[in-house]
Amino acid sequence: MAGKKSLSHLRRYFPLTKKCIYLNNASEGPLPLSAKRVMEKFLYDSSYTENEHDPESFRIVEEVREKCARLIKAKSSEIALTTNTSYGLNLVCRGLGLKSGDEILLPEVEFPANVYPWLNLRSEGIRVKFIKTENGFFDISRFHDAITPETRVFSVSFVQFLNGYKNDLKALGEICKQKDIFFVVDGIQGVGNQVLDVKESEVDLLSCGGHKWLLSPPGTGFVYLSSEAKRSLGTPFSGWLSVDWCQGKKKPDFTNLLRYDLKPFETARRFEFGSYPFLDIRGFDACLDMLLSAGIKNIEKHNRRLLKLLIDHINSSSRYELKSSLEEKHLSSIINFTGPGIGRLHSKLRQKGIVTSLREAGIRVSPHFYNNLTEIKKLIEVLES
Ligand SMILES: Cc1ncc(COP(=O)(O)O)c(C=O)c1O
Repeated sequence: MAGKKSLSHLRRYFPLTKKCIYLNNASEGPLPLSAKRVMEKFLYDSSYTENEHDPESFRIVEEVREKCARLIKAKSSEIALTTNTSYGLNLVCRGLGLKSGDEILLPEVEFPANVYPWLNLRSEGIRVKFIKTENGFFDISRFHDAITPETRVFSVSFVQFLNGYKNDLKALGEICKQKDIFFVVDGIQGVGNQVLDVKESEVDLLSCGGHKWLLSPPGTGFVYLSSEAKRSLGTPFSGWLSVDWCQGKKKPDFTNLLRYDLKPFETARRFEFGSYPFLDIRGFDACLDMLLSAGIKNIEKHNRRLLKLLIDHINSSSRYELKSSLEEKHLSSIINFTGPGIGRLHSKLRQKGIVTSLREAGIRVSPHFYNNLTEIKKLIEVLES
């Protein structure tokens, strides 16, 4: 169906597809049955068996780091598991040792998760500057113009949450490198549906929650910190699991917990502080397996094909107007359109079993690899009825 590899066989893992047409991944992804199964088994074992699954749980944590790394072409030593996007963004805010007079640049259309942690630094004399956009599309020349000698950090979404505008991370990363600006990316709306090579894009830190495009339980996520950028980031927080209980071995050894002489991990794992949500991480693991076996490139092509049908329809319609960019390199798995009586249309779609989001006077449509063209055609039928 899409690209070289058909993804239709994965639809059976999503029972929700029998109940409705779910086109709302940008809000929350449905949990696949494969993840539900491993989570149920863990719950069963937690109630009925002795609590001896720790070594297995730690092994899964290692694997999940490695799988997150594969999603963005990083190394597993550059990944720390977190609980949401905000965790990684707060980490970088606090870890960079910013001083009074330093400047942070943000596009004016960031999701609040990538705004409030920075605003929280203003009480320390750090300035937050918002860069204007054209209709919500971030323009590189405006970024260029906004940079001053005080600019220390630029933080931006991989994919904008309202209109799906995919930022050109490679071009932005190049500028940040030239100007010695720490480059932070909020990855949640793009990772899992768009190909990304964090090395090629010179990203210093990327933070991503698992509950949207990674289809994982809420409370999962990861942060990537490039080995090169590690030097710039201190350890603003630390905990008993930030230090190296492995001592050169594969498994941690917790038999002498009263030793306080252990060093933080050399890897990004130093940003994991305490006990893990092992249940959620098991679900996360199963979802990552599904995404990686489907292939992000295939997913990107598939989702693009679905949205192209809708875009073509909206472009030929006199009733609706696209709020998303049509430039190929800025397309993602999210589009937004508007028209008269948009609130009523959103409710009508819901009544007909089609789930989308009403965002800023537009309808946001965000399909994933388990959706198909028939579903998009049904959406178009309702738009025309
Ligand atoms: C771009 C973006 N960043 C972050 C978030 C959420 O942040 P967190 O994972 O910390 O809840 C969302 C949506 O909920 C989002 O659209």
